[in-house]
Amino acid sequence: MGDNPPPLEGGQSGQSQMPSIVEGINGVASSYDYPEPTPEGPYQILDQYHSKPRRLRVACVGAGASGLCLAYKMNKMLEAGTWELTLFEKNSHYGGTWLENTYPGVACDIPSHNYTFTWDPKPDWSHFFAYGPEIQRYFEDFAKRHGSERYMKLSTKVTEGRWDEEQGIWKLTLEDQNTKEIWHDWCHVWINGTGILNNWRWPDIEGLHDFKGPKMHSACWDHSVDLEGKTIGVIGNGSSSVQIVPQLQKIAKQVQVYIRSSTWISPPFGGGALAKVQGGKDVDPGHRQYEFTEEDKKKFRDYPEYHLDFRKGIEAEINGLFGMYRQGSELSDLFRKVITDEMNRRMGPGHQELKDFIIPTWAPGCRRISPGDGYLEALVQPNVEPVLKGIERILPEGILTNDGVEHKMDVLVCATGFQVAFKPAFNVINAAGKSIQDDWGTGVNLYMGVSAPRFPNYYTIVGPGATWSNGTLLPSIETTIEYAVKMMKKISTENIKAIEVQQEALDDLYNHFDTFHKNTVWKEECRSWFKDGKVKNRIYLWPGPTIHFLKSIKDPRMEDYNIRWRHGNRFAFLGNGDIKATVTKDVHGLSSYMRSSDHEWSVD
Ligand SMILES: Cc1cc2nc3c(=O)[nH]c(=O)nc-3n(C[C@H](O)[C@H](O)[C@H](O)COP(=O)(O)OP(=O)(O)OC[C@H]3O[C@@H](n4cnc5c(N)ncnc54)[C@H](O)[C@@H]3O)c2cc1C
Ligand SMILES: NC(=O)c1ccc[n+]([C@@H]2O[C@H](COP(=O)([O-])OP(=O)(O)OC[C@H]3O[C@@H](n4cnc5c(N)ncnc54)[C@H](OP(=O)(O)O)[C@@H]3O)[C@@H](O)[C@H]2O)c1
Repeated sequence: MGDNPPPLEGGQSGQSQMPSIVEGINGVASSYDYPEPTPEGPYQILDQYHSKPRRLRVACVGAGASGLCLAYKMNKMLEAGTWELTLFEKNSHYGGTWLENTYPGVACDIPSHNYTFTWDPKPDWSHFFAYGPEIQRYFEDFAKRHGSERYMKLSTKVTEGRWDEEQGIWKLTLEDQNTKEIWHDWCHVWINGTGILNNWRWPDIEGLHDFKGPKMHSACWDHSVDLEGKTIGVIGNGSSSVQIVPQLQKIAKQVQVYIRSSTWISPPFGGGALAKVQGGKDVDPGHRQYEFTEEDKKKFRDYPEYHLDFRKGIEAEINGLFGMYRQGSELSDLFRKVITDEMNRRMGPGHQELKDFIIPTWAPGCRRISPGDGYLEALVQPNVEPVLKGIERILPEGILTNDGVEHKMDVLVCATGFQVAFKPAFNVINAAGKSIQDDWGTGVNLYMGVSAPRFPNYYTIVGPGATWSNGTLLPSIETTIEYAVKMMKKISTENIKAIEVQQEALDDLYNHFDTFHKNTVWKEECRSWFKDGKVKNRIYLWPGPTIHFLKSIKDPRMEDYNIRWRHGNRFAFLGNGDIKATVTKDVHGLSSYMRSSDHEWSVD
């Protein structure tokens, strides 16, 4: 390891410095078939078969669901021996969200049967909404089944990438998280798989660090602190707090919940499927978690078609509810009425001040809806105090609210959210020496949440503009990864040096976003991480349900991209007149269009 220059420097191929790639098919070989430098002089025919892939070196930031999916899809979609991959992961283990968030009650709020990769059903989930450790085990099991761990370089933080236009590579700067040593690597294609909600942050409250007792953030839980019988302050009213508070209520002497804004606490996503497994029983609306029986699991295992129908039913329900995000729609009005009634009922008689405060005036969905099992019920327990006054400052013993009251506590929990990934948290610098942060200014400039004009061969997985608000994220992650891998294939087989999306294409897309969002609930007066923690901001949410997004990115629209080739002639990849089957002497390959019925055919 060290500061070795990239192998292509001076136009020569060379030995890889990628340390995590093992010997073998996609491993460190002694010689490389990397793309050769642009030849000088007049155009010459390449002595190769049509579309012969060039070895592509890929680096991904992050080994959460996105990184794992990338390793799987590259194996599946690209020819073995033509690519290398390293998943650089800052943590000492992989899993991302589900490794880091270990607070009491952490669970998915999408039915667990739909929180797997779409092609990889898991019939034996223990609960309808699986808890965090089981989800983390799912991803670990997935990684083991597919050998994904061999691509990982753990405890390694990516701090910078600089595009070298001459060589057509990203030069990366990395930091070893144990030794703090800085080293360098490079890649042809760079994937940002850092997720949306990975960068937790302390709230900006005066005196926060003066607090004398234990203090923790929801995304960095301190399990060494004994919470039993303690007075605990929880700041926040988002999805994390909604899961934490009912758990703390059961063990604490007192829980003070500092609520700055109202929020919709809704019935669960996938309610139709839940009612089905519960066999139509009348279930307490505040406790809708369901533990699958051995019989349920056996049925899912033994009848894959039944299991698939079950999963499809949930997905169709979520995709079909997109109308609720249209302002003033029948569905939006219906949701407001149903959720308002249910929230009132769940808080029981009285508690008028809390009800008036917590039930929003803006439409459901403006801020992310939380299906909070047991949250409203916890808020009205005698050992819970919802604090509806603003926080003035934090004191050594507790919190001073702006009505002058000092609230004393033993432990402080900040369920105050994340520095949302509107921009990468590392430096991304283009050929002009400009960072993505400067290039984007105060906004975002990301086509379909994936590609940025002026930053070639760089793909973000489900960045701003993708489906942050519409059900499970995994299908969008998978399809965006397939998109990036299709780009890799094109780069590798057509001898492309740089491919970057056109600003005009993005301008048109944003024009569509802005026009569409004139009538969506997201523009209403709520503060939300969808809007970078602001009440008013441009809306970077996909203008349609997940399935609409998937249809839009399933096949890259090449007409929206500019391409620069490694050779002067874009058709250099046509080569010497051979196709692969000419070289391998494969009779079927040499006659693939001869068939007995009119089905699809292709030429390798
Ligand atoms: C508490 C919580 C609950 C959630 N529940 C749901 C749910 O129910 N349904 C749903 O669809 N989604 C949910 N999400 C969203 C969830 O984040 C995604 O579903 C998914 O797990 C994202 O995977 P990812 O790999 O893209 O990102 P992450 O899981 O965030 O992984 C990103 C990885 O990148 C690494 N990384 C970041 N920066 C660097 C760097 N500079 N160098 C190296 N490595 C880096 C991180 O350490 C991390 O391992 C939830 C999120 C949170 C926080
Ligand atoms: N699967 C799940 O069930 C689940 C669970 C947890 C998280 N998640 C995902 O993660 C996202 C983030 O959830 P989150 O709850 O961690 O964060 P969040 O939704 O951003 O909520 C943060 C909360 O902290 C409050 N807050 C922030 N700074 C504050 C301050 N200075 N003073 C007082 N209050 C302050 C916010 O108040 P304001 O509203 O006034 O800003 C808000 O109530 C979710 O939307 C969801 O996508 C999902």
